[in-house]
Amino acid sequence: MTALRLDGIAELVTNSPGGDGPLGVVRDAALVVEAGVVVYAGPRHTAPDADGRLDLGGRAVLPGFVDSHAHLVFAGDRSVEFAARMAGTPYSAGGIRTTVAATRAAPDEVLRANVARLAAEALRQGTTTIECKSGYGLTVADEARSLAIAAEFTPETTYLGAHVVPPEVDPESYVDTVRGPMLAACAPHARWVDVFCDRGAFDADQTRAILDAAVHSGLAPRLHANQLERGPGVQIAVEYGAASADHCTHLAPSDVDALAGSDTVATLLPGAEFSTRSPYPDARRLLDAGATVALATDCNPGSSYTTSMPFCIALAVREMRMTTEEAVWSATAGGARALRRTDLGRLDPGARADLVVLDAPSYRFLAYRPGVPQIAQVWRGGHPATSG
Ligand code: NIG
Ligand code: FE
Repeated sequence: MTALRLDGIAELVTNSPGGDGPLGVVRDAALVVEAGVVVYAGPRHTAPDADGRLDLGGRAVLPGFVDSHAHLVFAGDRSVEFAARMAGTPYSAGGIRTTVAATRAAPDEVLRANVARLAAEALRQGTTTIECKSGYGLTVADEARSLAIAAEFTPETTYLGAHVVPPEVDPESYVDTVRGPMLAACAPHARWVDVFCDRGAFDADQTRAILDAAVHSGLAPRLHANQLERGPGVQIAVEYGAASADHCTHLAPSDVDALAGSDTVATLLPGAEFSTRSPYPDARRLLDAGATVALATDCNPGSSYTTSMPFCIALAVREMRMTTEEAVWSATAGGARALRRTDLGRLDPGARADLVVLDAPSYRFLAYRPGVPQIAQVWRGGHPATSG
């Protein structure tokens, strides 16, 4: 097996206690990768020799972004709805049905091409792991094919049959389908189950009924919680030991306490507040209470049509008062926690060699230079996955 040594790293973010501060930063660093994993991450002067060497010319290196919340299986777009919203029409969960109609009408190749396009776009912006939900099919066949297609691109697939009740079905019989035949058809392609537990979507009893069945089928829970109002979602997520409660935009004090006292990550999706012109979640309150926070894109055609983790980092720092260190940690290690992955989100021995080389000397430039393409290279499993 050949080892490769990356030299000339001005600043290496390891997210490991070996380095300085919360990001475990090492300056004037080297990284050695072998067989797809990191075997050394530390000062250049103590780095072991390797079969090959690459000089990165004074750039910063950080773990690849882990985008733990995305909806990539869909057809069409909702640019008209977005423009109307920017002109004053409020966002509602009902817009999802527009994408459902387009998705049902699309052949598999169109859905597959859409996921491929968005996954490649995310990769170019430094995302080396992306979670992908179903939720725009809402029939047994359309949810199952959505997940089968998602599974071609990522192991982090999530069954979101409970995204919204489709117009042709009554809510109770739809819940029965979601927890019955749809679950049976989708479970083989999914690792996770998600429910949009919010106003206009699913209530507490429906959410519990769906989670009970899905957990029984071997899926692990994560929830869309408290996006549109102070609802029961966060409490249910914690009660079920969910890996993550996502959005967390409207939290009661008891929700903050529940998250802080649990292993459930609070995943914040500032692209959704940006694109729906809504108040941002109170990240400071969560962080100061001791909750674990992740940042993700929520990429979807309705409420957040971005694949850019750097954009989310910039929003988190500028609009949500996260420090640059907190935002970078949340977009890497936080995302890994939200997916319960111990091999991702860090660059120290044993971690997967998934990394971003920045066209800048420091991770700080991610928030400091918003909207500027600064991703010089992306490596996945120890190999360049894209560059430019
Ligand atoms: O996470 N909240 C529910 N689902 C998406 C919105 C989907 C849509 O509007 O199409 C979200 O924001
Ligand atoms: Fe979402």
